[in-house]
Amino acid sequence: MVDINPGNAKGRALDIWQQAGVNNFSTRTLGTDDYSLTANSDIVVITAGLPRKPGMSRDDLISTNAKIVSSVVENILKYSPDPIIIIVSNPLDVMTYAAFKKSGLKASRVMGMAGILDTARYRSFLAEAIGTSPKDIQAILMGGHGDTMVPLPRYTTVAGIPVTELLDADKLNAIIERTKVGGGELVNLMGTSAWYAPGSSAAQMVQSIVRNENRIFPCCVYLDGEYGINDLCVGVPVVLGKNGVERVIELQLNEEEKAGLETSAKAVREVVDAYKALGL
Ligand SMILES: NC(=O)c1ccc[n+]([C@@H]2O[C@H](COP(=O)([O-])OP(=O)(O)OC[C@H]3O[C@@H](n4cnc5c(N)ncnc54)[C@H](O)[C@@H]3O)[C@@H](O)[C@H]2O)c1
Repeated sequence: MVDINPGNAKGRALDIWQQAGVNNFSTRTLGTDDYSLTANSDIVVITAGLPRKPGMSRDDLISTNAKIVSSVVENILKYSPDPIIIIVSNPLDVMTYAAFKKSGLKASRVMGMAGILDTARYRSFLAEAIGTSPKDIQAILMGGHGDTMVPLPRYTTVAGIPVTELLDADKLNAIIERTKVGGGELVNLMGTSAWYAPGSSAAQMVQSIVRNENRIFPCCVYLDGEYGINDLCVGVPVVLGKNGVERVIELQLNEEEKAGLETSAKAVREVVDAYKALGL
């Protein structure tokens, strides 16, 4: 774990290591502010940057976090020439775009974590409403990591049963709306952004890559014509394996879903344009 505040990184790494005996693992975790210790990393997860405060949108963080993410990418590449990078810092879609452009890495090696978290929130809300386990809920969600994200009820099932057979339209729509502002709900409760579900979601991406599981997850990736979107990073279903993004899955969206994705991509492009205008 690297942090500009070395005490913070060292303390957290020590705290994680001290639960090794309880949680049955043997890997020594280390904290530092010295990038040379990260040499030859296969995967780098970047979470550096300011979190939101109540009343802030993720986009309010562009300038500060773009500088932080760019400097982290530069430092990482000094010691690890071809890593797979997973971005967590917000505004997620724009930070993923910035990291991709700064790094010069192949598009398959730079991705953002948002879709797994947003889907996990959606699954937890559905599980409560239906009275089942979140484990049985399969769902996919697309678009930017913001209020324009596009949950897809047509691709939501509970142990193989279409969700629409278990929940009426009003309840489902209320859950979709709550999911869209799911991050904000937590920021309002705690005064800062969430960490358990985001951490688990990023870990699931790392696991699929390290173990070459080829799992399908919604992830923020650079699109070059897929879904009719060019030169933008937004959330779409991808296969994650040992090379990073093994492929983008192009679903046959209906008109309403297409319109939702277009609106979301437009919102992300506006923030990317604001980032570009900063000339960083
Ligand atoms: N993608 C998602 O779904 C998601 C979910 C939760 C949080 N986030 C985002 O993740 C980021 C981190 O959130 P957090 O709650 O962990 O914040 P935090 O304030 O707890 O931690 C951020 C850390 O970044 C460090 N840092 C700042 N500048 C740095 C630099 N140049 N190099 C190295 N480290 C640096 C700080 O010292 C701090 O320890 C925020 O941007 C937040 O919005 C994203």
